[in-house]
Amino acid sequence: MIQVAIMGYGTIGSGVAEILDKNREEIAAAAGEEVALKYVLDLRDFPDSPVEDRIVHDFKIIEEDPEVDLVVETMGGLNPSYPFVRASLLAGKHVATSNKALVAAYGTELLSIAREKGVNFFFEASVGGGIPIIRPLYRCLAGERIEEITGILNGTTNYILTKMDREGSSFEGALKEAQELGYAERNPEADVEGFDACRKIAILTAMATGHEVNYEDIYTEGITKITDVDFQYAEKLGASVKLFASSRMSGGQVHAWVAPVMIGRSHPLYAVNDVFNGILVKGNMLGTSMFYGSGAGKLPTASAVVADIIEAVQNLHTNVKIGWDEKRLTIEDVETASWRYFVRIAGGEELKEKAESIFGHVEIVDLGGRKEFAILTDEMMEIEFKGRAAAFDGVAQALGEDGIRQRIRAEL
Ligand code: HSE
Repeated sequence: MIQVAIMGYGTIGSGVAEILDKNREEIAAAAGEEVALKYVLDLRDFPDSPVEDRIVHDFKIIEEDPEVDLVVETMGGLNPSYPFVRASLLAGKHVATSNKALVAAYGTELLSIAREKGVNFFFEASVGGGIPIIRPLYRCLAGERIEEITGILNGTTNYILTKMDREGSSFEGALKEAQELGYAERNPEADVEGFDACRKIAILTAMATGHEVNYEDIYTEGITKITDVDFQYAEKLGASVKLFASSRMSGGQVHAWVAPVMIGRSHPLYAVNDVFNGILVKGNMLGTSMFYGSGAGKLPTASAVVADIIEAVQNLHTNVKIGWDEKRLTIEDVETASWRYFVRIAGGEELKEKAESIFGHVEIVDLGGRKEFAILTDEMMEIEFKGRAAAFDGVAQALGEDGIRQRIRAEL
């Protein structure tokens, strides 16, 4: 019998307790041992809940109980999750967490402690919720050189962008609806500014390369500046706008970024809508595969945590080789990455000619009835685009026009 403690009885923690109970037999069969929930650590009491007799308020009880082999961390944030997880590993306990902030900030150290102590630090649920992505990277794709990972890794922003696309909603309107439905946090900054997706792509990039990634090195742009008018142009182009988190490894260089990208209907991630997540992984032998499913939510995310529990029980006396080392990966400046660019320009006909002469070959898109138009450039490095955009704005302003109003990277 393996005794487990859950730290944090919120949405995901209570989901883990529920699955341990409901799927008890399946879990025992897969793990080779029965898995029992001994403690639930939370500041609150949960009278009349199925775990009311196992609630504890003091982490020391878990840390000092030799019967607890495995700790589940579903508190979120860094404090006290970091000191509690660190202490659990140092006490020789396995840890399974759903906490991407923790893994992105302290993964290197926690993986290293787990190795030293001969236990496991697993975090399948930290990226893509219930979608299997961490385990495929270190197991199924272990023989691949990973060349690219591109994902829609944040369900809240995907819900907002889907609403804007399908219903013509404004960003503010779609965000309000996401909040009313409980998808977006009351403070939605981490989602809409791309910080959540940034931590997730940092974890995937570290998994793919085997080296530590400092998430602060990843260029991150959110969706707050995307408007309903952008979606009107996108529709005319047979396109949509998605928040991509991507890392691309080629020629010994790694680019990693989070940004809204305009993509066409033939892109595999075009059909990833609402709160769903989708992740493309390109290996040098496999080619591209896609992982799709529920990137958040109680039972999907808890299901991934339970899979980690099972793998830990199967490897009770072995540290499974997973993760990355302490050598920090160099992430190239985003200005050296190349895209096409969708650019909205405020101004009249005379600027169309100027746009062609400054940006080179462009597709012009006009919605009609507005004193603005858009262009879609050919592919160029971001630093080159910036130079041309500055030159264009100079010309536009000399003509008494506003010039560039919006710029969205495009993979069309
Ligand atoms: N806020 C996250 C999302 C939750 O919207 O995807 C899952 O990590």
